[in-house]
Amino acid sequence: MPHSHIPVITIDGPTASGKGTVAAKVAERLSFHLLDSGALYRLTALQALRRGTELRDEHGIAKLAEHLPARFVGHDVFLASENVTQAIRAEEVGNMASKIAALPSVRQALFALQLGFREAPGLVADGRDMGTVIFPTAKLKVFLTASVEARAERRYKQLIGKGFSANMDDLLADLQARDERDTKRAVAPLVPAEDAHLLDTSNMSAEEAIEQVLAWYAHA
Ligand code: DC
Repeated sequence: MPHSHIPVITIDGPTASGKGTVAAKVAERLSFHLLDSGALYRLTALQALRRGTELRDEHGIAKLAEHLPARFVGHDVFLASENVTQAIRAEEVGNMASKIAALPSVRQALFALQLGFREAPGLVADGRDMGTVIFPTAKLKVFLTASVEARAERRYKQLIGKGFSANMDDLLADLQARDERDTKRAVAPLVPAEDAHLLDTSNMSAEEAIEQVLAWYAHA
């Protein structure tokens, strides 16, 4: 199958909108590959934090992204041979990811890496700019939203469930700051593609959101 004919479903949206869960389940139901593009930004951020590469060293961070030894094995994420599935979910890493994601040369460095995930029989790509920048010809584009309160509550449960400590007020403030950075940045800001289906999941279960995406795909 020519590369450009391999179907892609893009699922974009703000942090903690439920994208990750919906994307993973939709990929599983269709036996498609999955690209968690946020993990690539998180892996780069983790490397930068560990090595002490500062945010103002854009070139240095872009080099880390360019040579990122990222590996996805089932539901686990590896940095070379180290399993960092939990480590990249820490709030500190998420915040740094959101900051480095505003650097144009970092986004450029991760561009080709992301295109490489488009493999038969298909791909579900989860992120911020999957439908607008990385896979503009995707067969189905979905933009998931949810109120900041609903998202803070989900993130709270997620963090506690993973054994991290969490504080609701801090989470709300963090989410708002991250939304602000992700939507206002000059390169690839978080905006729905013109042809995206909008899905507000504030009052919806993950299962309902998954069924809606699958129904849209069946008619795409
Ligand atoms: O989806 P996430 O929370 O794991 O993403 C972490 C950060 O990476 C997020 O704050 C913004 C950035 N990101 C991005 O700019 N573009 C993407 N396609 C995915 C994530």
